[in-house]
Amino acid sequence: MTAEKFIEFDSLDNEAQELIRESIEAMKMSYSPYSNFKVGAALKCDDGTITRGCNIENSSFPASICAERTAISKAISDGRVKFKAIAVAAKMINNLITSPCGVCRQTLAEFGDMPVYLTDPTMTKVVETSVKDLLPLAFHLTKAGP
Ligand code: THU
Repeated sequence: MTAEKFIEFDSLDNEAQELIRESIEAMKMSYSPYSNFKVGAALKCDDGTITRGCNIENSSFPASICAERTAISKAISDGRVKFKAIAVAAKMINNLITSPCGVCRQTLAEFGDMPVYLTDPTMTKVVETSVKDLLPLAFHLTKAGP
């Protein structure tokens, strides 16, 4: 998988389409009064459930958390630690799709490789990539993930 290959939403299977729709729903919960940039994530867990996450900002900026890590924190604290895929949604700015930040890439890499779907709320453009493509040679101390 290449890191920036746009694909048609309709060409994706139902599971991926549902995950992408969930990530767009998750955007609506974003608490982002400082950046006004809403991000949503949807994490498919290996028990079939989907956990949503949104970015949550703070007046002390470093205390903010990205949508991807919100979803991972929610899933793990609910007892789910194996993940099959993640979708991330945000409005395109300057024709650029939102892709996970470095901290989120490392956080995702903890749980093994998985497909990553990036989209904007119109779903006209979807990038299909993977954790490994986003963070090659990730740092690991344990063999985590599936
Ligand atoms: N953000 C995310 O939630 N996920 C990303 O993949 C990129 C950035 C958030 C962090 C911050 O609340 C806002 O987007 C602007 O950087």
